[in-house]
Amino acid sequence: MSIIIEGLNKIYPSGNHALKDVNLTIPSGMFGLLGPNGAGKSTLMRILVALMEPTSGKVSMFGYDLRTQKKDIRRILGYLPQDFRFFAKYKTYEFLDYAARLSGITNSRVRKQKVADMLEQVGLYDARDRFASRLSGGMKRRLGIAQALIHDPKIIIVDEPTTGLDPEERIKFRNILTNIAEHDVSIILSTHIVGDISSSCTHMTLMNRGQVSFFGSPEDLLKAAEGSVWLIHANDEEFHEIIEKYPVVATIPAEKGWDVQVVTKDIDPRYKAEAMVPNLEHAYVHFIDTTFNEWSNA
Ligand SMILES: Nc1ncnc2c1ncn2[C@@H]1O[C@H](COP(=O)(O)OP(=O)(O)OP(=O)(O)O)[C@@H](O)[C@H]1O
Ligand SMILES: [Mg+2]
Repeated sequence: MSIIIEGLNKIYPSGNHALKDVNLTIPSGMFGLLGPNGAGKSTLMRILVALMEPTSGKVSMFGYDLRTQKKDIRRILGYLPQDFRFFAKYKTYEFLDYAARLSGITNSRVRKQKVADMLEQVGLYDARDRFASRLSGGMKRRLGIAQALIHDPKIIIVDEPTTGLDPEERIKFRNILTNIAEHDVSIILSTHIVGDISSSCTHMTLMNRGQVSFFGSPEDLLKAAEGSVWLIHANDEEFHEIIEKYPVVATIPAEKGWDVQVVTKDIDPRYKAEAMVPNLEHAYVHFIDTTFNEWSNA
């Protein structure tokens, strides 16, 4: 087991209780941290990379204690924050060289080689002379992952790396992560995009309002939602009732009325409803159910 989190709480000075008694054991491999805005994903990650102190609780990473062995932990850890920015003065290769120097690679020949390899690995070699701050969103994210990997960490923590990327860039980014994972680097990836989890993670957790509401494999998440997803054939009047009553995942106009997909444990037998095989998006809604209206209206 690579990371053991016990009884973790974070209360910000503002009084915001962002993590509420989080207990998690994160295995090696690719781990997905899924949750809506404000769930506490970034808070948890900032604590794991030793940038912020928890209010209470214990974290052990590869056997190191987060309270007393921060230096050791930083050595084996790479981090790509959610709001990563580049200084305007650096070209792409210069930025990476700077990151390499910071991480303690002092030999300039070694560093040059490392930077070139890294640029190659994330598909930025041809863009090495461009200013980092002027790269496209997807390229910036790839440069961000390169700086997190420059010192050969055992584990990297990436906070919402695919938000705002087009599908092609998201796929590129995911492929880079999969490639890294094959080289025995563990990855913790946070996202609110359900599709990022299904294609890459062996284990995952679902967080909501500072609490863990699910832990397991993406397949387990699907199983847990079985029997809670329905396709209702509704007339206009029923349709208006249904959208008030249940979390709706999809609405398709039908010949007479509507075909509505909803997620609920107790479906009203009055409706013409068929059980559906859940997909991950359904399962996500199933677990976030209680707060559904808040985030769907946000
Ligand atoms: N510096 C801070 N001071 C006070 N409250 C904060 C601070 N940072 C985050 N919070 C609050 O803590 C809670 C969790 O925020 P956090 O950023 O960890 O969520 P998140 O899951 O990363 O959300 P997102 O998907 O929007 O990035 C939210 O209610 C947020 O408003
Ligand atoms: Mg966040």
